[in-house]
Amino acid sequence: MKDKEGNNGKDPMLLQVKDLNKSFGGTPILKEISFSVDTGDCLAVLGPSGVGKTTLLRTLNFLERADSGVFTLDGTDYDLQHITAKQIAGIRRKTGFVFQEFNLFLNLTVLQNVTEGLITARKMPRDEAVEIARMALVRVGMEDKRDAFPVSLSGGQKQRAAIARALALSPEIIYFDEPTSALDPALTGEVLSVMRDLARDGMTMLVVTHELTFAREASNRVLFMDGGRIAEDARSADFFAAPETEQGKLFVQNISP
Ligand SMILES: Nc1ncnc2c1ncn2[C@@H]1O[C@H](COP(=O)(O)OP(=O)(O)OP(=O)(O)O)[C@@H](O)[C@H]1O
Ligand SMILES: [Mg+2]
Repeated sequence: MKDKEGNNGKDPMLLQVKDLNKSFGGTPILKEISFSVDTGDCLAVLGPSGVGKTTLLRTLNFLERADSGVFTLDGTDYDLQHITAKQIAGIRRKTGFVFQEFNLFLNLTVLQNVTEGLITARKMPRDEAVEIARMALVRVGMEDKRDAFPVSLSGGQKQRAAIARALALSPEIIYFDEPTSALDPALTGEVLSVMRDLARDGMTMLVVTHELTFAREASNRVLFMDGGRIAEDARSADFFAAPETEQGKLFVQNISP
């Protein structure tokens, strides 16, 4: 499944974060966060409410600025304290983001939502953009809704359109922040199923989620956060079978009584 690129069987590292710190109003929220992501990884970011999972994702996508830390993507190091707008724009071209609340453009059709970034930001000819968007919509089972406006879609369909929009830009990694938490329970399945397929196809993903069944089945690694730190960085199977920390044990017990 993974792209080995001749690294003597060692998986190539796509992204690395070292000693990332972030405070809000003098209160430390993220403390010395360090981890790495290999191409093809599906990382589940887990932890109790308020531990900083969303803040971590927003910091990685520069929706929030970290106070310090080093961010490495494709072998290039960026000092998070001094990173420039130009560098951020370059990194964003390689990363996708799927939000809890979909963030679709309400005045555009599904297809237009997906082609928008290709045409406006990437300056792609419309025909080419439409073809790429169509393939992305097929991948999430939404091609039949290409001409619908978001208001006429279910939450699950909106989120699948948002995933197609991220996919169309061919990101090297997609960040998801609780992509199903705004959905009725009946609609979470179709979104998780799309995400499972992406993970299986080798899409590199960092998923903040409270869907522990999804995390257990679809992710290969877990980052368990507690108190603004990464308390455990483990293979999913190991984390769910035998968490190493007390907090991890409590967390897993609570979800599988
Ligand atoms: N813009 C902000 N200004 C001040 N404090 C913030 C801001 N954003 C987040 N926080 C605080 O940072 C902490 C971590 O919040 P965050 O949203 O990252 O948690 P989370 O792990 O995503 O929680 P949940 O599981 O409930 O989504 C919380 O104490 C929150 O109040
Ligand atoms: Mg959150």
